[in-house]
Amino acid sequence: MTSRADALALDAADPLAGFRDKFVITDPDTCYLDGNSLGRLPKATIETVNDFLINGWAAKVVDGWADWIDMAESVGDLIGRATLGAAAGQVLAMDTTSVNFYRACRAAITARPGRKTIITDEANFPTDRYIMQGIADELGLTLVTIQNELDAELITPELLTPYLNDDVALVTFSVIAYRSGALQDVPTITKLVHDHGALVVWDASHAVGAVDLRCDEWNVDLMVGCTYKYCNSGPGSPAWVYIAKRLQPELDFPIHGWFAQRNQFEMGSQFEQIDGMRGFQIASPSIIGLLSIESAFTMIEDARISNISAKASRGTDMMIELFDEWLAPLGYTLVTPRDAQRRGGHITIHHPDAAQIARGLRIHKNVIPDYREPSSIRVAISPLATSYVEVWDGFERIRDYTMSGEYKTVSTDSKVT
Ligand SMILES: Cc1ncc(COP(=O)(O)O)c(C=O)c1O
Repeated sequence: MTSRADALALDAADPLAGFRDKFVITDPDTCYLDGNSLGRLPKATIETVNDFLINGWAAKVVDGWADWIDMAESVGDLIGRATLGAAAGQVLAMDTTSVNFYRACRAAITARPGRKTIITDEANFPTDRYIMQGIADELGLTLVTIQNELDAELITPELLTPYLNDDVALVTFSVIAYRSGALQDVPTITKLVHDHGALVVWDASHAVGAVDLRCDEWNVDLMVGCTYKYCNSGPGSPAWVYIAKRLQPELDFPIHGWFAQRNQFEMGSQFEQIDGMRGFQIASPSIIGLLSIESAFTMIEDARISNISAKASRGTDMMIELFDEWLAPLGYTLVTPRDAQRRGGHITIHHPDAAQIARGLRIHKNVIPDYREPSSIRVAISPLATSYVEVWDGFERIRDYTMSGEYKTVSTDSKVT
């Protein structure tokens, strides 16, 4: 099993080790294992945003728009290149994941007229399930929610096939299930759905920046995701949407805003959609948000997503070894698949007292994991910012704290979990 010296040796040999110093780490003793929820702040972003405030907004005021007006597209291309395996002209950085998800789903459904069934799974992220419920009500469609809580929430062809027929317009899943950490087989599921004539919208929020996604190669239709988890672009930073070039001419995204208008500044009386990705943008982008994305994704591009996903895989292997050795005997169970091909950067463990343990680790042990109702603790390696020894120390503290029983007096009242 991996000793602390082994973890240090992994760090010494890690081609990404130098990137840790590019992040603000206020307390080196903290084991920050929650980069799958909110990534750390890159130092470069402080400079980029400060520079924008002083030399951009303050100095140029409204004239600055000449430099900023196309940034949703240029930053989208960077996201696509650095993390999605997407050629230029298919990604926009904008709005929130929820808004992009709604618009992508509506456009996919409209592109399959006459079909009345839409499909998701119970394990999908709440915002996706709620939005699908709303769309079903709005359009009078039948929403089928697959119960897949067994088998680590994996969607297999055997599970999905019985639900597919020529009434299905849209199928949507998360690339990585937020609770279990299971990584779906995107190309296989996409092909299966295509064979039945429907489209797939993928939510890659928990995969982008941790997994080597290949949207073009996998024939993905539509994918959405955030930039604030493994991609370190800051709380509430703009999200993104990938729209395959082959589908762009046939998709009508709802909300026709002025940024999608051909000859935008002629301010014409009728909406006329411009070709290309710009035709899917609604409105004025958050320039500070886009600059934060630009600085973080430039770092990801330098590091290379193949190196990042290899470290996520090695780091989660180490977590599972430590789990088997230390945590299983203490009443924890592992939820995430053991196959490294079927997971990303986080693993999920269950314990009946997970709420108190997770809270107590934060308050008393300087370990920051992530807690999900009712009994899950999620632990992540964010490959650019997290060291192997940080993970190792975090697991040792989880073991010792659980063994001590000190968590039993911890109150779990907190607004955000
Ligand atoms: C898988 C997934 N989808 C969607 C969202 C919601 O993102 P937003 O608040 O940017 O709409 C989240 C947020 O954590 C998420 O994890």
